[in-house]
Order: sequence, then C-alpha cells, then structure tokens
Amino acid sequence: MWLVTGGAGYIGAHVVRALQRSGREVVVLDDLSTGIASKLGDTPLVRASVGDREALRAAFRDYKVDGVLHLAAKKAVGESVERPLYYWQENVCNLQVLLEEMTQAGIARFVYSSSAAVYGQPDSTDLITETTLCQPINPYGATKLAGEWMTTATAAQYGWSAMSLRYFNVAGAGEADLADPGVFNLIPLVFRALDNQVPPQVYGDDYPTVDGTCVRDYVHVVDLADAHVAACEYVETHPAAGNTVLNIGTGRGSSVLEVLDTVSAATGLDATGARVQRRAGDPAQLVAAVDRAREVLGWTSSNDLSDMVTSAWQAWKSHNGETE
Ligand SMILES: NC(=O)c1ccc[n+]([C@@H]2O[C@H](COP(=O)([O-])OP(=O)(O)OC[C@H]3O[C@@H](n4cnc5c(N)ncnc54)[C@H](O)[C@@H]3O)[C@@H](O)[C@H]2O)c1
Repeated sequence: MWLVTGGAGYIGAHVVRALQRSGREVVVLDDLSTGIASKLGDTPLVRASVGDREALRAAFRDYKVDGVLHLAAKKAVGESVERPLYYWQENVCNLQVLLEEMTQAGIARFVYSSSAAVYGQPDSTDLITETTLCQPINPYGATKLAGEWMTTATAAQYGWSAMSLRYFNVAGAGEADLADPGVFNLIPLVFRALDNQVPPQVYGDDYPTVDGTCVRDYVHVVDLADAHVAACEYVETHPAAGNTVLNIGTGRGSSVLEVLDTVSAATGLDATGARVQRRAGDPAQLVAAVDRAREVLGWTSSNDLSDMVTSAWQAWKSHNGETE
C-alpha cells in the first residue's frame, strides 16, 4: 500500500489515479489546505498534516503502508519570500517528522517531489543536468533542496530506496475535474486573463532567448504522473538503492510567446500578451536534460505543449462551470 501525501492536490490527484490504474493500492494523507477532497472519489483519505505524528502512525498501521510518495508542500515562491519560516516548517520540519516515523515503522520506499527551483538561476542556458550546481534563489527552492538532502542521508543510513523527482513546469490536466487551480503558473494565469478580457502579461522581452521572452520546460501532468508510477516500480524492485535524483521534464523549451500562440490556437481567443518589465529572479531559460530519467526509469514524456494547453483549457472551462 502506497501512502500519497498531498494526494488531493493538482499533481497528487493525477498521481493517485495513475497509481490505481497501475494496480497499486493507495491511501491519501492531506490536510486539504490547498487540496480538494472530491478529486479522490473512493480513495481513502486521512485528513491530517504531514507533521502530525499520531496520524502518520495510525495511517501506517491501519493501511499497512510499505511506501510513501511525498507531494504535500507549500509551493508559492513569493509567499516563501514573505514567510520563510513557515515554508521551512511546512516543507522541511514536516518532512523530518515523516521520515522519522517511516524509520520507526520500517518503511523503506520513498518518492519525493522536488523541483527545478533547486537550480536557482543557472549562469548558462545549457540544458540542466542533475549535476548542475544547485543554488536556489528563494526559500521555496531552498526547502526543496534541503528535503532532498534529508532524504539522501536517511536513505543511506537506513537502507532505503528513494527517488527525488525534480519537476520542471507542470501543466495540463488528465481529466476535466483535475484542473490546475494555481494562480502562479503561466498557463492558468493566461486563462484567467482571457476570462477577465485583459491581455496576459509578458514579463520582459529582452532575454537572450529565441524571441526575447523566458523559456521553460513544460511537462504534461499526465506524463509526470506516469513518471511517479515508474519511480514506484523502481524503488519496489531496487531495494536499498539510496536516493536517486532525476529531472522530470521534456528536454524541450518553450518561450512565453510560444505558449501564448499555443493558447490562441487551442482556445480560438486572442492571447496576445502585453509586454511589461522583467520580474526579479526570472532566469532566461530553464530546460531539463532528461537522459537520466530515460536511463533509470525508461520514462520519457509523450505529450507536447499543444496537448498541455488543450487539456488545461478543457479542464479550466469545466472548473469554472462553463460548457463547450
Ligand atoms: N505545480 C508545479 O509546477 C510544481 C513544480 C515543481 C514541484 N512541485 C511540487 O509538487 C508537489 C505538489 O504540488 P501541486 O502543484 O500539486 O500543489 P497543490 O497545492 O495543488 O498540492 C499540494 C497538496 O498538499 C496538501 N498539503 C499541503 N501542506 C500539507 C501538510 N502540511 N500536510 C498535509 N497535506 C498538505 C494540500 O492540501 C494539497 O492537496 C509540491 O511538493 C510542489 O512543491 C510542483
């Protein structure tokens, strides 16, 4: 039985369904701070914080848990700057409690949600490999990196098999009820602007990129969920392998203008952006090298930007109560 923390969230709900389709049994632990219980259907839900030792102990015992996927976290970069200690509490102190309770319960399989935010602002625009220097530039990225380090040390000491997945920019929806309600990611921000009949904002058009706007590696949430299934398979079949760190992206970058063009094509609406000043801390280009994920997991993404935007738009409309 796999316990998925944060399973009621945007990515977690996709992961839960993918695990169930793979034949695995799942229980979710989520405090519903940003998650939505109705996404879980009949999946058992323990409504509690990851920092709640008693709830963890009971869930491990009652559901005979033998592996944990840890997705629960706070993820808003700006908020992490304003409330750094809250982010360390939620993303690091809670993880310490979780890992400690796992050692007590003898659970030795672990998959951890990390982020491309661990890399910060790389100097070059080369593809980012797992050995690229990690220099997070905000508390969010720092907490994710600290979580990897805690996982590495724990896995080594207690003979675990663990995997830290560094997601790049996650987008799209697998089913209509699983929209990304996020207010920080580009594609939902563009949809919100279209709903409000204002032009989406483009932060800076003088970066050293193909068209001057920032380039990111967008990965479909359905492909990301499949990567989690592959990660579970890996830790199930490679005991005591320590913590393996993998980039999860497509290896292909898309500029902001390319995303806006794709939104216009998918929605039939005019998503022409309004150029505004650069934001502090936005790197020109962040694109993953994905060879290691292919070698270790046999996983590659199969959906492109158009698939992401189209599925996200369908889910967005149904999320907002609109129909075709
Ligand atoms: N969305 C992205 O583009 C992205 C990119 C890189 C990494 N990540 C990571 O992926 C994970 C999931 O992100 P998401 O986009 O699905 O976010 P989300 O906010 O939709 O999901 C987070 C889930 O965790 C739950 N949660 C939060 N704090 C909790 C706590 N203390 N105890 C129990 N449950 C708690 C929330 O209720 C929610 O269901 C996070 O760890 C995030 O850092 C996301």
